[in-house]
Amino acid sequence: MIPTLAWTPEGVRFIDQTKLPLEESFVLAATYEQVAEAIVAMVVRGAPAIGVSAAYGIALGALHTKAATPLEFAPEFDRICARLAATRPTAVNLFWAIDRIKRLFANLLASGATLVQIQQRILAEADAMYNEDIAACKTMGAFGAELLPQEGGVLTHCNAGALATCGYGTALGVIRSAVEQGKRIHVFADETRPFLQGARLTAWELMASNIPTTVICDNTAASLMRQGRIQAVVVGADRIAANGDTANKIGTYNVAILAKEHAIPFYVAAPWSTIDLATATGDSIPIEERSPLEVTHHGGKQLTPNGVGICNPAFDVTPAKYVTAIITERGVLRAPYAESLREMQLVG
Ligand code: MRU
Repeated sequence: MIPTLAWTPEGVRFIDQTKLPLEESFVLAATYEQVAEAIVAMVVRGAPAIGVSAAYGIALGALHTKAATPLEFAPEFDRICARLAATRPTAVNLFWAIDRIKRLFANLLASGATLVQIQQRILAEADAMYNEDIAACKTMGAFGAELLPQEGGVLTHCNAGALATCGYGTALGVIRSAVEQGKRIHVFADETRPFLQGARLTAWELMASNIPTTVICDNTAASLMRQGRIQAVVVGADRIAANGDTANKIGTYNVAILAKEHAIPFYVAAPWSTIDLATATGDSIPIEERSPLEVTHHGGKQLTPNGVGICNPAFDVTPAKYVTAIITERGVLRAPYAESLREMQLVG
């Protein structure tokens, strides 16, 4: 299995996604601050992986505290959570994971648990999230595989694979599952400027799994769709609003419009932790703006003239009307999403 992140006695070990595919090296985050830095630097990235990393970060903070009692630790706990929450704003999984640990901490404080018990329970909760994430990916993979054709091209954007989760992947989990069922899928991976998650990460992990993959420039999809070479699109998500509007990697919206124009189904695969019923529509989803250097430079080489304006949003929002179905571990949802999401939330 691809070792996206792993808990070790020394801390959280990440495969360094800034170095792939040329270098398979690892980064050890031994403190919660180092976990936060790894998230900001995108050593670890992808909505579910960020959430679980933050949970392990809180566990590290709890284990390293110099506080003598739970009450003495409480203000430090708040600072740890605030630091990790300030890393990246768009993927709701981050806040979902931190809130889950906050609720656990409040319950443990109220029940009079000792500091050692609190440390153990926070780490156990992070472990549970890790295992739940892999299980959710496998389940949504099986649901989503049914939607893919027996044979054909499937386009994906960014990396919503094992590297973006604790293993298996969301969008790539759907593709993995279809391939495991014997479907003959050829993946087209958008390169995904500027961070190149598709060219570097999706290509790397699909090749490692022997799934036929072709990397295309982001501006190639329309042409391939017109030629009939793409039968479905599957992408992941960073946050899905209550009406089904979906934030995902910048450029996803373009792909959704192209898919609609060519009557190709556009699927979003995401665990329930990506669904944010407290956010009414995509207009309220905060979109991270990243450093202009990601656009102006590549591999240490400057690409653009000095002083030119740069716009570098990391995500965009695809309106729900372009989404053919949302694939979750609870099942496949169809429009109208305001209703299907609410109903699925109630069923649990
Ligand atoms: O900026 P990134 O690389 O963290 O963005 C990742 C994506 O947009 C993924 O598609 C999304 O997080 C889903 S990952 C299962």
